[in-house]
Amino acid sequence: MEKLVSLCQRRGFIFPSSDIYGGLSACWDYGPVGVELKRNVKEAWWRASVQDRDDMVGLDTAILMNPRVWEASGHVTAFSDPLVECKGCHQRFRADDLPPEAEGRCPSCGGEFTEPQQFNLMFKTFMGPVEDAASVVYLRPETAQGIFVNFANVLNTSRKRLPFGIAQVGKSFRNEITTGNFIFRSREFEQMEIEYFVRPGSDDEWFAYWVKERLGWYAGLGIRPENLRLRQHTEDELAHYSRCCSDIEYSFPMGWAELEGIANRADYDLKQHMEYSGKGLTYLDEETNKHIIPYVIEPSAGVDRTVLAILCDAYDEEPDKDEIRVLFHFHPDIAPVKVAVLPLSRKENLAAFARDVYASLRPCFATQYDDTQSIGRRYRRQDELGTPYCVTVDFQSLEDNMATIRERDTMNQIRVPVPALAATLQNKLAGEDIFVLPEGGVIWKEETKGG
Ligand code: GAP
Repeated sequence: MEKLVSLCQRRGFIFPSSDIYGGLSACWDYGPVGVELKRNVKEAWWRASVQDRDDMVGLDTAILMNPRVWEASGHVTAFSDPLVECKGCHQRFRADDLPPEAEGRCPSCGGEFTEPQQFNLMFKTFMGPVEDAASVVYLRPETAQGIFVNFANVLNTSRKRLPFGIAQVGKSFRNEITTGNFIFRSREFEQMEIEYFVRPGSDDEWFAYWVKERLGWYAGLGIRPENLRLRQHTEDELAHYSRCCSDIEYSFPMGWAELEGIANRADYDLKQHMEYSGKGLTYLDEETNKHIIPYVIEPSAGVDRTVLAILCDAYDEEPDKDEIRVLFHFHPDIAPVKVAVLPLSRKENLAAFARDVYASLRPCFATQYDDTQSIGRRYRRQDELGTPYCVTVDFQSLEDNMATIRERDTMNQIRVPVPALAATLQNKLAGEDIFVLPEGGVIWKEETKGG
């Protein structure tokens, strides 16, 4: 994890928040490369969860909501963790998250703890110019409630019939007692949540469906299946709204830990909001002509935890001559940079040629242009960014109008006519290892081992 954190900072993936002021505990900033990776993750999720499906619609709701929402949802009374304080060093810990070897004493100084007190995890702020109890609002601790309170709005405007789902991606905030492990548990993070509404009685079937679907999604991002597992919650672990829940866990460097929770929330939330708001949130069942309250299956994933799992899974070190080659084997769909154009020299005639190549590729892929330092150093830099392909332009290119494509994982190189570069890279990024020349149907095969 330490190596990953330092590489992420060095290469512009993730920085501590407010770094020049010494950071802010458990808050992180995504740098120029990290923001692309994160966007690619969210876009892949949105495509799979909303755009590629007929039974889903999206939503983007406000972070600040009427405080009654959180009374109805149970967060004001039940969204808390047991907090203990060491009587010796006054450090605070989550009583249910202490390392077993501490044997109920302070892991820092061995001191005795105070009695556990329930600590609510919601951040509070004030709306308007007066700071009193009547103006308290909360930063949302989950995006889900924005979906439930809009159930009728979406139903009336989208005319979806059961079963159907509503998806949302957005920031959530939790005043976590124990944070750490880089972006695994932070106080400001992003969630990708689906509330999938079904007929009561079909909920077990849909629960199983979503578990399979979501596991498949992570595997599709290139995460190795042996690093993923499913863990069912025990009765005493269940959240206040949940009938049953399974976590998709990833084998992080610190051990197996939750990546996503898939819960059966039954009719808890819609019922609560009907009671607290006095508004009808039922569904007129076309089969029975009766009003019913749908049950809800909720696959709730963390953007930052997915990014962390991808970083951990893709990180690799390989012996390379006398050195170690560090690289990320990102799946092409989520790689922050897809192609880097590297001219062998900065000489004017070659630079102009390389710039033209860059200009022709940039509209097709996230492409970088890099002409600093030796070609070897530039390859290593792109490896550390996880760039699947580098395109090298040399003096021979000026003669034959060809360029070299160098593959990140194998370091193999092939020489390709410049007019065929975009089509070839497109095929390669899509997993096809052949390409067809635009003018002719020629299949290129020749490869050489490079550095
Ligand atoms: N609406 C249900 C819900 O919020 P959760 O299990 O509390 O369920 C869902 O959160 C996901 O959100 C987690 O699986 C995790 O990926 C992410 N998450 C929760 N708390 C987090 C935190 N403090 N830092 C980063 N990600 C977090």
